[in-house]
Amino acid sequence: MNIRLARVQDQQGMQACNLQNLPENYTMKYYLYHIATWPALSYVAEDSKGRIVGYILAKMEEDLAEGEAPHGHVTSISVLRSYRRLGLAKKLMIQSQDAMATVYKAQYVSLHVRKSNRAALGLYKDTLGFEMKKIESKYYADGEDAYAMNLDLTA
Ligand SMILES: CC(C)(COP(=O)(O)OP(=O)(O)OC[C@H]1O[C@@H](n2cnc3c(N)ncnc32)[C@H](O)[C@@H]1OP(=O)(O)O)[C@@H](O)C(=O)NCCC(=O)NCCS
Repeated sequence: MNIRLARVQDQQGMQACNLQNLPENYTMKYYLYHIATWPALSYVAEDSKGRIVGYILAKMEEDLAEGEAPHGHVTSISVLRSYRRLGLAKKLMIQSQDAMATVYKAQYVSLHVRKSNRAALGLYKDTLGFEMKKIESKYYADGEDAYAMNLDLTA
């Protein structure tokens, strides 16, 4: 499996991977916006035939409050079911986090995760060291709460 930077032509493969795995879906324009605006932050995992089996869509936070430190945000990550538990999501996260820190001087990275998403919570909390910042009540369209989590990138 190969991990590489996402390109504009990957939008469709990324969207297909998203639609199979997550109820939070995005327009093609939204993928393009991420890739075009922060070209160092989104990555794909591809199989030996170049098919996209996982992706991370990430950005820098745009609307910073007064005094707020620059930070990255993971918009979406997913890995196709038959390619899970191979370490792909961990690699995708680390590539993006490293680029946030080195290219954009991000101090930390933030994300939201469903309270019930055990796999993602394991990845963020246990494997990568994210900390829970707050619970955002009814954050998701179906009414589920989100954990807002951060990882310090300065340590
Ligand atoms: C969450 C997801 C991206 C993880 O992808 P993955 O490539 O399988 O994850 P990795 O192989 O890199 O796993 C890294 C670590 O995460 C944790 N983890 C991954 N899957 C897990 C599971 N099903 N249960 C518990 N912990 C899990 C483990 O700590 C794992 O380390 P280990 O394999 O050494 O035990 C994947 O399950 C997925 O695409 N889920 C559907 C989409 C989704 O929920 N995205 C996140 C939205 S916030």
